[in-house]
Amino acid sequence: MQTIKLNNGVEMPQLGFGVYQIPLTETAEAVYQAIKAGYRLIDTASVYGNEKETGEGIKRAIHEGLVTREELFVTSKLFILQAPEAKAAETIEQSLNAMGLHYLDLYLIHQPYGDVYGAWRAMVAAQNSGKLRAIGVSNFKSAKMIEFVGLNEVKPQINQIEVNPWNQRVEDQEWHEKYGVQMEAWAPFAEGHHDLFTNPVLAEIGEQYGKSVGQVVLRWLMQRGIVALAKSVRPERMAENIDIFDFELSEEDFEKISALDMKESAFFDHDAPQQVEWFMNRMLDTEK
Ligand SMILES: NC(=O)c1ccc[n+]([C@@H]2O[C@H](COP(=O)([O-])OP(=O)(O)OC[C@H]3O[C@@H](n4cnc5c(N)ncnc54)[C@H](OP(=O)(O)O)[C@@H]3O)[C@@H](O)[C@H]2O)c1
Repeated sequence: MQTIKLNNGVEMPQLGFGVYQIPLTETAEAVYQAIKAGYRLIDTASVYGNEKETGEGIKRAIHEGLVTREELFVTSKLFILQAPEAKAAETIEQSLNAMGLHYLDLYLIHQPYGDVYGAWRAMVAAQNSGKLRAIGVSNFKSAKMIEFVGLNEVKPQINQIEVNPWNQRVEDQEWHEKYGVQMEAWAPFAEGHHDLFTNPVLAEIGEQYGKSVGQVVLRWLMQRGIVALAKSVRPERMAENIDIFDFELSEEDFEKISALDMKESAFFDHDAPQQVEWFMNRMLDTEK
């Protein structure tokens, strides 16, 4: 698996497997199958409610000798509620306990709300004590990322944000490169929005190489130097999505994909009042 070196020297796989929206009863099996298919980067979050099941899939894969713990790169995230410093420290412990792991390879502040500075201090402390190998943020717009880098001694290793052919984040990538923060793409397929999997431009590009639309999209992210997370509960798609290291998109392919950029989220704006209201309700739900 191709790797990317983060600003603290830690190397992470460039392609990973995400477990958002996988039903609880299927999560452990999906994680196990993904590891079997060759994925080494696994992405979950406390708010997904499936850290325990993700840990079970990992445990089974290690137990069966498919992989060692050191070969895996496991990510989780802290949601808004848990942001105050003491609570953040507690949440990191909860994530570790739920997953049955002694350390996580990456921990992220899930949303740019709440006491992100307090949360960050707790995460830096956990990094210093060896519980978290890398730390970062998620859904930070470039302006917020720049402020966060400027006001902290330890800068984030990662910002996990939406990146897909409809929302390409080209200027954001330049800002991230300038500040040394690695971009990681969530929803690389835009969860299929705007008929991504049957898009004629992407399909035609894929035909040249005998590759599917999904493979073209992930390859495009790899060539841009972005870490990408793909989710599928189907082993045949897990295998398809990881089979992207034997072809190369041309400059002409890149130009065609550039023309698809709508420069807006395929889902929602993280700053929209309705969205922030939803986050706050979600925060109260997780408190219950
Ligand atoms: N930080 C954040 O706020 C945030 C937000 C969203 C997601 N994420 C992370 O990013 C990961 C990926 O994003 P996502 O799950 O939202 O969306 P995604 O990976 O863009 O899309 C997943 C969807 O695509 C389908 N699919 C996957 N491979 C396919 C293929 N080769 N052909 C056709 N359909 C295919 C899947 O269906 P099947 O499962 O039926 O195959 C599923 O419906 C998440 O799992 C999560 O770890 C983070």
